[in-house]
Amino acid sequence: MKRVVEPELMTEAEQAQAYAGADFESAHSLYPRLFAEKFPRRGRQATVLDLGCGPCDVTIRFAKANPGYRFHAVDGSAAMLRYGRRALAKQPTLARRFKLIEGFIPGAPVPRRSYDLILSSSFLHHLHDPQVLWQTVRRYARSGTMVFVPDLRRPSSLAQARALAEKYSGSEPEVLRRDFLNSLLAAFTPAEVRRQLRQAGLNGLTVESISDRHLLVFGTVTNTVQPAALRDPRPTREPRRAFRSARIARSGRAPATAVPSGSSRRKRSIQPS
Ligand SMILES: C[S@@+](CC[C@H](N)C(=O)[O-])C[C@H]1O[C@@H](n2cnc3c(N)ncnc32)[C@H](O)[C@@H]1O
Repeated sequence: MKRVVEPELMTEAEQAQAYAGADFESAHSLYPRLFAEKFPRRGRQATVLDLGCGPCDVTIRFAKANPGYRFHAVDGSAAMLRYGRRALAKQPTLARRFKLIEGFIPGAPVPRRSYDLILSSSFLHHLHDPQVLWQTVRRYARSGTMVFVPDLRRPSSLAQARALAEKYSGSEPEVLRRDFLNSLLAAFTPAEVRRQLRQAGLNGLTVESISDRHLLVFGTVTNTVQPAALRDPRPTREPRRAFRSARIARSGRAPATAVPSGSSRRKRSIQPS
């Protein structure tokens, strides 16, 4: 079945609210456990870049499971980051280890040159060009950087996608059911992701199917020399905009200077992961 892309950013208040309120317990609770399993000898301290963090449910789970980790969490949607801030406001001790950054990828103002772990959950399937993720990984990885990327995987037929959507989002609101189906149709197959990784020269990463609807890309970056074909900055289809980053204050509210730039770009769908 051919891939059908969906909008990249999730900027509408209604869709952010629905996504932030959805029940992702079964998938999201698995990720920190799988991370520990795949990286048993990981360090106790790490700085983590989370690409497409949304309302930070996955990021927060990683922070709880790894108390020595600090997080730079990036998303292009102010609406989604608002829910991330709200969640962190309820956990001020945890919030001290977070910095939320509003910015479109590629081009977001990522604070560090490199990270110990690059995490990205349910972001890949949003990208019209998947190399945006792999190039961003290349850009912010050093030799030894861990990569952990769980995402949806595309079923082989529309009938199978419909059956999965019914099974896993049947009790969710209509908008989530519809958009979960859209996300399954926009996702990549493991074979496609393996080709993407070869093209990006990320040969140390492995792709595994981890459920009937998810895949996982994981591994350690060993080679940080970019393939020549990917060295030039890629043009972006998104309009240029001012980005501002937000350090979460203890109160959970961003300082006035960190108010999101308020993009007027509107997107329609919600994608349960
Ligand atoms: C399905 S959500 C996943 C959120 C979170 N990582 C999770 O697993 O629940 C995808 C997020 O990626 C963001 N996103 C999509 N394309 C983006 C881009 N090019 N730059 C920045 N954020 C993007 C969307 O706004 C959305 O918040």
